[in-house]
Amino acid sequence: MHNVTLIEGDGIGPEICRSLLEVSKAMNLDINFEKVNAGKVAFEQFGELIPQNVYDSIEKNKVAIKGPVTTPIGEGFRSVNVYLRKKYDLYANIRPVISFPKIETPFKNVDITVFRENTEDLYAGIEEISEDGNTAKSIKIITREKSERIAKKAFEFAKANKKEKVTVVTKANIMKYSDGLFLDVAREVSKNYKEIELEEVLIDNMCMQLVSNPSKYQVILTENLYGDILSDLCAGLTGGLGLVPGANVGDDIALFESVHGSAPDIANKGIANPTALLLSFCMLLDYIDLRDDAEKLRSSIKKTLLDKNNFTKDLGGNLTTQMYTEKIIENLG
Ligand code: NAI
Repeated sequence: MHNVTLIEGDGIGPEICRSLLEVSKAMNLDINFEKVNAGKVAFEQFGELIPQNVYDSIEKNKVAIKGPVTTPIGEGFRSVNVYLRKKYDLYANIRPVISFPKIETPFKNVDITVFRENTEDLYAGIEEISEDGNTAKSIKIITREKSERIAKKAFEFAKANKKEKVTVVTKANIMKYSDGLFLDVAREVSKNYKEIELEEVLIDNMCMQLVSNPSKYQVILTENLYGDILSDLCAGLTGGLGLVPGANVGDDIALFESVHGSAPDIANKGIANPTALLLSFCMLLDYIDLRDDAEKLRSSIKKTLLDKNNFTKDLGGNLTTQMYTEKIIENLG
């Protein structure tokens, strides 16, 4: 039996987590979900954004899946997500973005996996503001050690999945020391993978390239902020945030979650697309070595999305979260 921590989150989190639990039950998986909560809901209940039982559960189970959590803007706690990623040193944020043939977008055959460094850069949270409130500083931290481990993850993935190239994205022409270091390390790491090309692209050009010809790219290796932005951009290429899963992986603990946020504009309407969370669950199943189950669920999602009658509202269809979940279960075969 695998014990997995489940954090439902808020906004559309509980709705898409319900879908996940129904699918998992229908698949008869040998998984016990341990439910805990973080974020707004936990704060209202326990007076803390991350109660102790969340840490206890993650540390015991080592594997967690999470719905989105709303981040308060401006003051107080920075972000539940960023905090958990840093606390458990979940340094690799891996986000596969793949086209589904019947979803209408200007692009076909997108198959890009973004490897985003998840613990430093401008997200290190080192900020200060002058006493008069007129000057604010945010410090960007890039280290050799942390750049190296994410670069290795990206190249190992490329090797295991027979990808021909890794594209490293920086702004090293302007931020010569910080982005320069990230780029240098990528060049060093690439020397150990002679069969894989290292392509170097600047972030501004990368945005243009991605919205012109995304099928040229296979694996993107980048820093925290650029990775955050590029993965949302990539989601837009294939049909939106409802479709893109993610994993936050460290050496010991892994936390799986969709790329999207809590979507307050559609919360409690029963129309959220659970695909991104279900695909994140597939990544979790791979991680705990239930690979056949992961493939079974992926196949069901692909089959379901071959019929436009099965689309949720974000994809231009009419199915509710519940109806879509039922289709996924039907198509498990
Ligand atoms: P968002 O990703 O929540 O929503 C952006 C747009 O995409 C909205 O129009 C929303 O309706 C749509 N959308 C997102 N997921 C969808 C789904 N599964 N099905 C259908 N439509 C979907 O981004 P936003 O509005 O910028 O952020 C809302 C909150 O979420 C903020 O507090 C933010 O900090 C937080 N957030 C949390 C994340 C996490 O917990 N991992 C990640 C990103 C944002």
